[in-house]
Amino acid sequence: MNRDKSNYNNMIYKKLSLSVLLFAAGFLTASAQKSPQDMDRFIDVLMNKMTLEEKIGQLNLPVTGEITTGQAKSSDIAAKIKKGEVGGLFNLKGVEKIREVQKQAVEDSRLGIPLLFGMDVIHGYETMFPIPLGLSCTWDMTAIEESARIAAVEASADGISWTFSPMVDISRDPRWGRVSEGSGEDPFLGAMIAEAMVRGYQGKNMERNDEIMACVKHFALYGAGEAGRDYNTVDMSRQRMFNDYMLPYEAAVEAGVGSVMASFNEVDGIPATANKWLMTDILRGQWGFNGFVVTDYTGISEMIDHGIGDLQTVSARAINAGVDMDMVSEGFVGTLKKSVQEGKVSMATLNTACRRILEAKYKLGLFDNPYKYCDPKRPARDIFTKAHRDAARRIAAESFVLLKNDDVTLIPGTPAEPLLPFNPKGNIAVIGPLADSRTNMPGTWSVAAVLDRCPSLVEGLKEMTTGKANILYAKGSNLISDASYEERATMFGRSLNRDNRTDQQLLDEALTVANQSDIIIAALGESSEMSGESSSRTDLNIPDVQQNLLKELLKTGKPVVLVLFTGRPLTLTWEQEHVPAILNVWFGGSEAAYAIGDALFGYVNPGGKLTMSFPKNVGQIPLYYAHKNTGRPLAQGKWFEKFRSNYLDVDNEPLYPFGYGLSYTTFSYGDIDLSRSTIDMTGELTAAVMVTNTGTWPGSEVVQLYIRDLVGSTTRPVKE
Ligand code: BGC
Repeated sequence: MNRDKSNYNNMIYKKLSLSVLLFAAGFLTASAQKSPQDMDRFIDVLMNKMTLEEKIGQLNLPVTGEITTGQAKSSDIAAKIKKGEVGGLFNLKGVEKIREVQKQAVEDSRLGIPLLFGMDVIHGYETMFPIPLGLSCTWDMTAIEESARIAAVEASADGISWTFSPMVDISRDPRWGRVSEGSGEDPFLGAMIAEAMVRGYQGKNMERNDEIMACVKHFALYGAGEAGRDYNTVDMSRQRMFNDYMLPYEAAVEAGVGSVMASFNEVDGIPATANKWLMTDILRGQWGFNGFVVTDYTGISEMIDHGIGDLQTVSARAINAGVDMDMVSEGFVGTLKKSVQEGKVSMATLNTACRRILEAKYKLGLFDNPYKYCDPKRPARDIFTKAHRDAARRIAAESFVLLKNDDVTLIPGTPAEPLLPFNPKGNIAVIGPLADSRTNMPGTWSVAAVLDRCPSLVEGLKEMTTGKANILYAKGSNLISDASYEERATMFGRSLNRDNRTDQQLLDEALTVANQSDIIIAALGESSEMSGESSSRTDLNIPDVQQNLLKELLKTGKPVVLVLFTGRPLTLTWEQEHVPAILNVWFGGSEAAYAIGDALFGYVNPGGKLTMSFPKNVGQIPLYYAHKNTGRPLAQGKWFEKFRSNYLDVDNEPLYPFGYGLSYTTFSYGDIDLSRSTIDMTGELTAAVMVTNTGTWPGSEVVQLYIRDLVGSTTRPVKE
């Protein structure tokens, strides 16, 4: 089955028609019938009544709720809401709590302006889908849109009107932990996914009570921080910027995204949050964005450390650049009045920002019904439903990438055959520090997940094999030998309950279990918080004690399947050489355990293809398929030549390239058929190919088409 057609064309982005999902739940509010003129008039009347302080208040977004992600915590929220000093809140969970706070805004503040309620609904709400990097490996826009739609249905049922998603930062550096939150290295694929996510969240036009506002982030270039270190400096040419990084943001704008989040990094020597060229000239001038821009968490106050001024100066620079809402810094509420009085910020600029926030609230229908998202009957009906969980299980399995599947002889005297899939029978050992951890299943940014409801791999497999096989379990090792590193990598309630036994004791127990088994599943890799925000790594190997465990398990001579949990490409050179089967399962969400069982036992055929290159070692980074040729490329088939562009100690190729992924079946490709043989700058052609499943398993195939511009006025990549 051809899931998707990639139709590349230099810098010309084409929309593909994809089936749109319709959900029965939800209803239209009165604003459905209102025109833009009605909105303008309504906001004119309202703004005429607003004081300077109330206008500034709309631009203020403090944090509340169960988690904080930065250095600051806000307090006295209720008093501020009453004074009209708050435009929205985020990361507050629960429809009753949100209704109560909304009531304070509507009933206790002078003008009764409703609040926006935001949350990092990144890859699902309570029903969790794979981390975005995993989702992107489905290359399946229908599934990706469906995941966002379900997330919107659930979040809106719980009071949320605004999600800080999609994250569309292109990255070519797996040291950066936040690659887990994006869609990998390719701008075209990233743009398609950005659009699909916006459609999923916002639905038709944010009118229904199950459609919420999306926020594309982090604008711009956040994925290109130097050395993969989070929040680090970015410096790149305009050519690279627009060829390789900007497309997904632009696509989200084209899809009508309601808001944009500024990134932490600088662009051309000016922090994005104060960068007028970025926020006004490009975003609004060139792309026609008409929603509002919010900073990232403490993005304004962090510009003091960037070294461009004190809080008043950086706040003025942000709003003058085109930023409308201040997340957590309280720079706007703290200093804008003074800046207006001193003529550093014009009243017109302030009015524009305030209007944009009010417009968003209007478009969401909050002025018609501030409790639009506060129907107390909805959580039970719409959250973590069987249908949503079924979808999450199906999509999780689609995201898994089969990296290796060697032929092995399981029964002496019978012919060797691929190790995966296998029938669940006999004794199956499931070993590793990630084998029995519920809290690590959904992955990073699972703010709303009920962690205890995400079965661990061991629990899921036991349930699936009852009456057929025995699941034996041993932890085998801690996550990492260094306890303090493990602590840093298992924050926010994601502890792996460090085992106080020695490495040898843990190993001995694992080997006893392994020796009783017919097949070993090694559940190894990263904990969920080893990727995500503030989780950069310089060593991308499977951590020390786990690698040792794997080596010892292989020595038993039993067939070993590595079920790899990871939020980023790892360096798996040793594993590729020695382990017969490797299934990369990322972090698959709340239903991941069942989905892994489905893939291992062959109930589904994992057809995911990588969207980020896996390097052979960290020194090859940045490594990506769409690289330029250089004037000294290697001759075909060579891996080293003196005075050519290469390394002495490793070849230039990735271990697993972009687009790679095996299947339980095989496909043959017919000849490619082009609708025409020439194409001008804005022309279109259609490429068609007959793909046949030539194996014995059902399966789906991601058909990939790459192009190369052989001669150009500027250099072009060897493949796009
Ligand atoms: C992250 C954003 C996130 C925000 C709010 C920040 O630290 O960079 O991606 O949306 O926190 O939680």
